[in-house]
Formats: sequence, C-alpha cells, structure tokens
Amino acid sequence: MIKVVHTVKEVREEVAKWRKEGLSVGFVPTMGYLHEGHQSLIKNAVKDNDRVVVSVFVNPMQFGPTEDLESYPRDLEADTKLCESTGANLVFNPQPEEMYTDGFCSFVDMNGLTKELCGKSRPIHFRGVCTVVSKLFNIVTPDRAYFGQKDAQQLAVIKRMVTDLNTPVEIIGCPIIREEDGLAKSSRNTYLSKEERQAALILSKSIFMGKKLVEDGERDSAKVIKAMTDMINTEPLAKIDYVDVVDFSTIEKTDVIKGETLVAIAVYIGKTRLIDNFIVNV
Ligand code: PAJ
Repeated sequence: MIKVVHTVKEVREEVAKWRKEGLSVGFVPTMGYLHEGHQSLIKNAVKDNDRVVVSVFVNPMQFGPTEDLESYPRDLEADTKLCESTGANLVFNPQPEEMYTDGFCSFVDMNGLTKELCGKSRPIHFRGVCTVVSKLFNIVTPDRAYFGQKDAQQLAVIKRMVTDLNTPVEIIGCPIIREEDGLAKSSRNTYLSKEERQAALILSKSIFMGKKLVEDGERDSAKVIKAMTDMINTEPLAKIDYVDVVDFSTIEKTDVIKGETLVAIAVYIGKTRLIDNFIVNV
C-alpha cells in the first residue's frame, strides 16, 4: 500500500527505514494533477530504484504575483491512485506552512541559465524552483531524481544546481510525453476551452517543423526561429512569448546550431501559457 504523508518528519522516518535495509531511493518532484508525463518519470524511477517517493506540492514561491497559483488544478486522491498503480511507495504532500515556516528567508538562486526563455518572462520562477527542489532533496535525500525534458530549462537549471552545490543526487532527464495529436501533456492543458485545445496544436506543429528543418541541415538559428514564428502566427488564438535557440547546458542564445542545442517556445493560447521544445545534438 502506498503511504501519503504531509510532514517532513514522516518522510525522514520512512526513508530512514529504507536506508537501514540498504534500499535505494528514487524521487519525482511534482506539483500534482498528475498525467502520463509525470507517470513516465515515476515509471523510470520505479525501474531504477528500490523505493520511490513522489512529492505533490504546488510551490507558491515559484509563481509570480499575476500567475495561476490559486487556480492551479489539484486532485490528491487521483494523484495517489496514479502513484500507487505505477509502483511508487510514498507521496509527500506538504502544506505551504510545512515547507515555509515562520521567518523563512533562505533561497537558492542562480546567476546563469535563468536569464533567457522562461527566466525572462517569469523573473522569480527559477529561484522558487531551485529553493523548493533543494529543500525537497534535503528532506528526501534520494539517490536519483527524475525531471522531464518538457521543462527543459528547469532540467538544465537543476543539473547545474546539483553540480555547483555538490548535492549528492543523480539527475535523470526523461523525454516529453505528448497527446496522440502531438500536444505536450501538461496539467495546464485543463485550462483550455475546446477551441483553444485545437489552437494549441500550433505549438507541437511548429516544434516538429523546426526539428525537421534542423535535421535536414539548417544551422542558422534565425531561420529556424523565423519559420517557427511565422507558423505560430498563422493561429489567431496564439500569442508568442518567445521562440528561441540556446545552448542546452548554458541556456545562452546561440546564432548557429551546434552541439547540444535547445529550441524552446512559450505561447499564450488565450490566457493559458504553454511551453514546448526540442533538443538536437549536431
Ligand atoms: P510539474 O509541472 O508538476 O512537473 C513535474 C515534472 O514532470 C517535471 O520534471 C516536468 O518536466 C515533468 N513533466 C511534466 N509534463 C511532462 C511531459 N508531458 N512529459 C514529460 N515530463 C513531463 O516542474 C514542476 O512541476 C515544478 O517546477 C517542480 C520541479 C515540482 C518544483 O516545484
């Protein structure tokens, strides 16, 4: 039976029992409302580790003042079922007060990797992500932690963070899981009306087209950006936040596509901000 706990103390006690038995621990941090994207991370964690912890915590610190913290979808019961059926052992679902106690004033922040892409349009976002993920790593003390390429900048940021801070956790990146028609799975897809859901396909369409351009030999970032931008702009409900080409490890813009390169987009469909990307290694 899966266990759901709400306090740091309970997580530590569970993990301590496992450690005593010499068991390895995998960890999947999430904000809940789990779908097959999250599930793929849990599956990988179950495959690689003796025990798996999933955290379900809508982290207030990573939301800007005008963002969707209040409306972010929540369903702990369904999340617990999905975790259990996928083979996870423990769900950690803290209240904000458990994570941010009175007088909280310590942060993990980053000087690089967070200036471009989502860091530009969400200035405090990665400070919130790095802080909560560091805390969760300290609470769970996993051997391995699993992150989706769906949030490619986040994956790069977390890899950098554990390297810089000597955090003893192996970071494992997992591929983007998509709906049958191509749309990247996201908890935020639930915000879309029927018409917007259809319009949202422009993200994955432009991602597939851009990827093909690069695979066919295009190395000029500006040309790829222009082709993708033009395609997204054919959709009347879409408003581009960014279409960018960056080096995947530094998240710095690059004019020429070479080495491990991330092509990432953020697009508003109505009021909903969606992201998608592809990574090429040339
Ligand atoms: P959340 O958006 O819930 O995502 C949790 C993890 O699931 C992230 O690593 C994300 O990249 C992955 N994921 C989401 N959709 C995916 C998809 N379609 N395919 C593959 N992986 C997918 O990311 C966060 O939460 C938070 O920032 C968090 C790391 C938990 C810190 O609060």
